[in-house]
Amino acid sequence: MILIKKKKFIFLFFLLYNIIGDIMINDEIYEKIKKIVINVGDIMLKANYDELGINQKEGNNNIVTKYDVMIQKKLKKELLNLVPNACFIGEEGDNDDLEKEYKFIVDPIDGTMNFSRKMNLSAVSVALLKDEEPIVGICYLPYNKELYEARKNYGAFLNGKKIHVSQKKLKEGIVFCGSSPYYDDLRNKSLEILNKYSKVASDYRRFGSAVIEICSVASGKAELYVELRVMPWDHAAASLILQEAGGVITTIEGNKIKYDAPTSVVASNGTEDYLKYL
Ligand code: IPD
Ligand code: CA
Ligand code: CA
Repeated sequence: MILIKKKKFIFLFFLLYNIIGDIMINDEIYEKIKKIVINVGDIMLKANYDELGINQKEGNNNIVTKYDVMIQKKLKKELLNLVPNACFIGEEGDNDDLEKEYKFIVDPIDGTMNFSRKMNLSAVSVALLKDEEPIVGICYLPYNKELYEARKNYGAFLNGKKIHVSQKKLKEGIVFCGSSPYYDDLRNKSLEILNKYSKVASDYRRFGSAVIEICSVASGKAELYVELRVMPWDHAAASLILQEAGGVITTIEGNKIKYDAPTSVVASNGTEDYLKYL
């Protein structure tokens, strides 16, 4: 009798655990993560453009500024201080070798080229993964003070207001087509994809920030984002926000997205099979 009760309790515990998401990341920790992300946005706003400290990275015209490094350092210190049982992966290196149950995946500045050219179109992106699946996604656009956020199973929000993908089909939709700018070999294929979608869609855009483009689909401002090769920090936070807003994200082959390797991304409002146009 006691054994049955115990089994029932364990079953109910795991059921609840799956429904409400992760109880380690309680409201207080979640709010603190948000604050950390918003605060580093100021570093972008106060950047000294006479001393950006630009360095070239591997790949075609792939740059890093001293502000990318500065923001990532601050995020690493403060996020790991808050969740010490997590490891940290950021675009600008100094990453943890040790795999842990919890993992932060961070892009300190998504849209570095935009940032270096004063386009005011960049975002800070922080995802927290548990067992390789995002459970928290925070994307902050400091120039227009937009905070996109999601916790698994809690919905997605923009500045505190619930967001949802649009109901439009491609015919009346706006498409973002990323150029995978650091990989010369993907240029033609990217243009071919853009060409195919642009024949059907109402129009297309390119912002130069995968984070802002995916968040735009999540909030119903556009219908589709496609890019042939991005890194986990480009999409981990935004992909949770998109899914919590009712959207769909897969690879270009229609497979489940993974967060531990480069991947193609097709992020949409899910109103139709967008892969059939390719
Ligand atoms: C890049 C931007 C860009 C996308 C690239 C990304 P970065 O990130 O999101 O829009 O086309 O694939 O790598 O280098 O500016 O952080
Ligand atoms: Ca990026
Ligand atoms: Ca970046």
